[in-house]
Amino acid sequence: MNTVKAIYPGSFDPVTNGHLDLIARGAKIFDHVVVAILKNATKNPLFTVEERVEMLTEAVTGFDNVSIATFDGLLVDFARQQQAQAVLRGIRAISDYEYELQMAHMNRRLARELETIFLMPDARYSFVSSRLVKEVFELGGSVEGLVPPFVIRRLKVRVADHNGSHEAASSTSNP
Ligand SMILES: Nc1ncnc2c1ncn2[C@@H]1O[C@H](COP(=O)(O)OP(=O)(O)O)[C@@H](O)[C@H]1O
Ligand SMILES: [Mg+2]
Repeated sequence: MNTVKAIYPGSFDPVTNGHLDLIARGAKIFDHVVVAILKNATKNPLFTVEERVEMLTEAVTGFDNVSIATFDGLLVDFARQQQAQAVLRGIRAISDYEYELQMAHMNRRLARELETIFLMPDARYSFVSSRLVKEVFELGGSVEGLVPPFVIRRLKVRVADHNGSHEAASSTSNP
Protein backbone atom coordinates (compact mmCIF):
# COMPACT_ATOMS: atom_id res chain seq x y z
CA MET A 1 0.00 0.00 0.00
CA ASN A 2 1.16 3.50 -0.81
CA THR A 3 1.19 5.48 2.43
CA VAL A 4 2.24 9.10 2.73
CA LYS A 5 4.25 10.23 5.72
CA ALA A 6 4.95 13.86 6.57
CA ILE A 7 7.49 15.36 8.94
CA TYR A 8 6.36 18.45 10.86
CA PRO A 9 9.62 19.97 12.13
CA GLY A 10 10.05 22.84 14.56
CA SER A 11 11.21 24.07 17.95
CA PHE A 12 7.87 23.67 19.77
CA ASP A 13 9.19 25.69 22.73
CA PRO A 14 6.44 25.20 23.87
CA VAL A 15 3.73 23.60 21.70
CA THR A 16 0.85 26.03 21.07
CA ASN A 17 -2.74 25.56 19.92
CA GLY A 18 -1.55 26.90 16.56
CA HIS A 19 0.86 23.96 16.23
CA LEU A 20 -1.96 21.62 17.29
CA ASP A 21 -4.33 23.11 14.74
CA LEU A 22 -1.73 22.37 12.07
CA ILE A 23 -1.13 18.83 13.37
CA ALA A 24 -4.89 18.15 13.21
CA ARG A 25 -5.04 19.34 9.60
CA GLY A 26 -1.94 17.33 8.70
CA ALA A 27 -3.34 14.19 10.35
CA LYS A 28 -6.42 14.42 8.09
CA ILE A 29 -4.37 14.60 4.90
CA PHE A 30 -1.42 12.31 5.58
CA ASP A 31 -1.39 8.68 6.64
CA HIS A 32 1.21 9.53 9.26
CA VAL A 33 2.62 12.75 10.73
CA VAL A 34 5.90 12.77 12.63
CA VAL A 35 6.25 15.90 14.75
CA ALA A 36 10.02 16.39 14.91
CA ILE A 37 11.70 18.61 17.49
CA LEU A 38 14.97 20.12 16.34
CA LYS A 39 17.60 19.36 18.99
CA ASN A 40 20.53 21.57 18.04
CA ALA A 41 18.57 24.80 18.15
CA THR A 42 20.82 27.81 18.35
CA LYS A 43 17.93 29.61 20.03
CA ASN A 44 18.07 29.68 23.80
CA PRO A 45 15.08 27.45 24.67
CA LEU A 46 12.84 27.79 27.75
CA PHE A 47 12.09 24.05 27.85
CA THR A 48 14.50 21.15 27.40
CA VAL A 49 14.00 18.81 24.46
CA GLU A 50 12.73 16.14 26.91
CA GLU A 51 10.14 18.54 28.34
CA ARG A 52 9.02 19.48 24.82
CA VAL A 53 8.70 15.79 23.91
CA GLU A 54 6.55 15.24 27.04
CA MET A 55 4.27 18.19 26.26
CA LEU A 56 3.85 17.21 22.60
CA THR A 57 3.22 13.57 23.51
CA GLU A 58 0.44 14.66 25.85
CA ALA A 59 -0.93 17.04 23.22
CA VAL A 60 -1.30 14.38 20.49
CA THR A 61 -2.79 11.53 22.55
CA GLY A 62 -6.04 11.90 20.58
CA PHE A 63 -4.39 11.14 17.22
CA ASP A 64 -3.52 7.57 16.30
CA ASN A 65 -1.45 8.61 13.24
CA VAL A 66 0.78 11.23 14.87
CA SER A 67 4.08 10.47 16.59
CA ILE A 68 6.80 12.57 18.23
CA ALA A 69 10.51 12.42 17.41
CA THR A 70 13.64 14.50 17.83
CA PHE A 71 16.41 15.13 15.31
CA ASP A 72 19.54 17.12 14.72
CA GLY A 73 21.45 17.86 11.57
CA LEU A 74 19.74 18.32 8.22
CA LEU A 75 15.98 17.95 8.03
CA VAL A 76 16.30 16.23 4.64
CA ASP A 77 18.53 13.54 6.17
CA PHE A 78 15.98 12.90 8.90
CA ALA A 79 13.15 12.83 6.35
CA ARG A 80 15.02 10.27 4.23
CA GLN A 81 15.80 8.17 7.27
CA GLN A 82 12.08 8.23 8.15
CA GLN A 83 11.14 7.50 4.51
CA ALA A 84 8.86 10.52 4.55
CA GLN A 85 7.58 12.04 1.32
CA ALA A 86 6.58 15.43 2.68
CA VAL A 87 7.53 18.21 5.08
CA LEU A 88 4.67 20.06 6.74
CA ARG A 89 5.09 23.72 7.69
CA GLY A 90 2.70 26.42 8.81
CA ILE A 91 2.18 29.84 7.28
CA ARG A 92 0.46 32.26 9.64
CA ALA A 93 0.95 35.48 7.72
CA ILE A 94 2.95 36.89 4.85
CA SER A 95 5.81 37.45 7.32
CA ASP A 96 6.33 33.67 7.58
CA TYR A 97 6.32 33.24 3.84
CA GLU A 98 9.73 34.57 2.87
CA TYR A 99 11.72 32.46 5.32
CA GLU A 100 9.58 29.38 4.71
CA LEU A 101 9.98 29.73 0.93
CA GLN A 102 13.78 29.94 1.29
CA MET A 103 13.85 26.84 3.47
CA ALA A 104 11.54 24.94 1.12
CA HIS A 105 13.70 25.77 -1.92
CA MET A 106 16.89 24.83 -0.09
CA ASN A 107 15.35 21.55 1.04
CA ARG A 108 14.17 20.86 -2.52
CA ARG A 109 17.70 21.43 -3.74
CA LEU A 110 19.01 19.01 -1.14
CA ALA A 111 16.28 16.38 -1.66
CA ARG A 112 14.29 16.65 -4.89
CA GLU A 113 11.92 13.85 -3.94
CA LEU A 114 10.72 15.64 -0.79
CA GLU A 115 7.76 18.02 -1.08
CA THR A 116 7.10 20.85 1.37
CA ILE A 117 3.40 21.37 2.11
CA PHE A 118 2.22 24.60 3.72
CA LEU A 119 -0.99 24.75 5.70
CA MET A 120 -2.58 27.75 7.36
CA PRO A 121 -4.04 27.50 10.84
CA ASP A 122 -7.48 28.68 11.87
CA ALA A 123 -7.50 32.49 11.81
CA ARG A 124 -7.76 32.64 15.60
CA TYR A 125 -4.24 31.17 15.84
CA SER A 126 -2.70 33.27 13.09
CA PHE A 127 -1.03 35.58 15.63
CA VAL A 128 0.11 32.85 18.04
CA SER A 129 3.79 32.01 18.33
CA SER A 130 5.75 30.19 21.03
CA ARG A 131 7.89 33.31 21.44
CA LEU A 132 4.92 35.62 22.04
CA VAL A 133 3.27 33.12 24.41
CA LYS A 134 6.46 33.05 26.52
CA GLU A 135 6.83 36.83 26.51
CA VAL A 136 3.22 37.51 27.49
CA PHE A 137 3.22 34.81 30.16
CA GLU A 138 6.49 36.02 31.70
CA LEU A 139 5.02 39.53 31.94
CA GLY A 140 1.93 38.20 33.74
CA GLY A 141 -0.55 38.17 30.84
CA SER A 142 -3.03 35.35 30.20
CA VAL A 143 -2.27 32.82 27.48
CA GLU A 144 -5.38 30.76 28.15
CA GLY A 145 -6.84 29.34 24.94
CA LEU A 146 -3.55 29.79 23.11
CA VAL A 147 -1.76 26.75 24.56
CA PRO A 148 -3.05 23.52 26.18
CA PRO A 149 -3.71 23.71 29.96
CA PHE A 150 -0.76 21.45 30.84
CA VAL A 151 1.56 23.87 29.00
CA ILE A 152 0.24 26.70 31.20
CA ARG A 153 1.04 24.57 34.27
CA ARG A 154 4.60 24.00 33.03
CA LEU A 155 5.03 27.70 32.22
CA LYS A 156 3.97 28.57 35.77
CA VAL A 157 6.55 26.22 37.28
CA ARG A 158 9.30 27.39 34.93
CA VAL A 159 8.62 31.09 35.40
CA ALA A 160 8.34 30.65 39.19
CA ASP A 161 11.77 28.91 39.13
CA HIS A 162 13.21 31.81 37.14
CA ASN A 163 11.80 34.44 39.47
CA GLY A 164 13.01 32.44 42.46
CA SER A 165 16.55 32.37 41.08
CA HIS A 166 16.42 36.12 40.29
CA GLU A 167 15.34 36.84 43.86
CA ALA A 168 18.08 34.60 45.21
CA ALA A 169 20.62 36.38 42.97
CA SER A 170 19.47 39.86 43.92
CA SER A 171 19.26 39.08 47.63
CA THR A 172 22.89 37.91 47.65
CA SER A 173 24.07 41.03 45.80
CA ASN A 174 21.85 43.36 47.89
CA PRO A 175 21.65 41.89 51.39
N1 LIG B 1 0.17 29.58 15.45
C1 LIG B 1 0.65 28.82 14.47
N2 LIG B 1 -0.18 28.39 13.50
C2 LIG B 1 0.29 27.66 12.47
N3 LIG B 1 1.56 27.31 12.31
C3 LIG B 1 2.42 27.69 13.24
C4 LIG B 1 2.02 28.45 14.38
N4 LIG B 1 3.11 28.68 15.15
C5 LIG B 1 4.14 28.09 14.50
N5 LIG B 1 3.73 27.51 13.36
C6 LIG B 1 4.53 26.79 12.37
O1 LIG B 1 5.01 25.61 12.95
C7 LIG B 1 6.33 25.34 12.48
C8 LIG B 1 7.25 25.23 13.66
O2 LIG B 1 7.32 26.46 14.32
P1 LIG B 1 8.29 26.71 15.55
O3 LIG B 1 7.93 25.79 16.66
O4 LIG B 1 8.28 28.17 15.83
O5 LIG B 1 9.69 26.22 15.02
P2 LIG B 1 10.73 26.98 14.09
O6 LIG B 1 11.90 27.18 15.01
O7 LIG B 1 11.00 26.01 12.99
O8 LIG B 1 10.12 28.26 13.63
C9 LIG B 1 6.65 26.48 11.51
O9 LIG B 1 6.32 26.07 10.20
C10 LIG B 1 5.75 27.59 11.95
O10 LIG B 1 5.45 28.44 10.87
MG1 LIG C 1 9.17 29.84 14.70
